Amino acid sequence: MYKHAIYTIKSNEKIAPDVFRMTLTGDTQYIIRPGQFINIKLDSFYLRRPISVCDYGKDGLTVIYKTVGSGTHQLGKMSAGQTLDCLTGLGNGFDTSKCLKDALVIGGGVGIPPLYKLSKELIAQGKNVSVVLGFNTAQEIFYKKEFEDLGARVYLCTVDGSAGIKGFVTDALKEENIDYDYFFSCGPEPMLKAVCNSTKTSGQLSFESRMGCGFGACLACSCKTKYGNKRICKDGPVLEKEEIIW
Ligand code: FES
Repeated sequence: MYKHAIYTIKSNEKIAPDVFRMTLTGDTQYIIRPGQFINIKLDSFYLRRPISVCDYGKDGLTVIYKTVGSGTHQLGKMSAGQTLDCLTGLGNGFDTSKCLKDALVIGGGVGIPPLYKLSKELIAQGKNVSVVLGFNTAQEIFYKKEFEDLGARVYLCTVDGSAGIKGFVTDALKEENIDYDYFFSCGPEPMLKAVCNSTKTSGQLSFESRMGCGFGACLACSCKTKYGNKRICKDGPVLEKEEIIW
């Protein structure tokens, strides 16, 4: 179930080139799983901007976003004390119960933020978490230390080899002998497809899509799965490996 909420910006800071972390205070009771998202209304834009939730607690939440268009640039200019009109508690989120003991968490670029709260929950449940973080170059790296501070084992890789393992997240999977019984992933679609082909277990993947309403009413985000059409905003953004048609 989603809810309309007004959040107040507590901080909004750049943490990597074009990447910002915003902390917000307000009612988070409808956010019940990592991997859910909020849909933000911005001045002079008809459509809201969906942004995944990086972390949440009783009194507030954190989002990390990339300034790629005029809407997110507008968000990047906002400061503490300003308010945001949001729809909150959107999407299904990750189901952590599917992982028994050893979780493999794989993120690429701005797909990484929702995996932070996911890893936090998995660790709180007593599970071992190995995180593979993929970036294009060392300059773009964010949240490596934050994942380590949670107690996750972090494997870093960059496409240009300027930090960590040289190559894609799937190269890290080939090089490192990571033990896992289930995986979770979020990132660009070609990465998700490669992850599916490189993993030996079942898993869940979080998808991005163009969206209209964000809560299941307009069908703008509909996609075909093995079990029929699904709406990325409501039936997703998290889908199971076995149901995806690439
Ligand atoms: Fe409207 Fe998904 S964005 S149904």
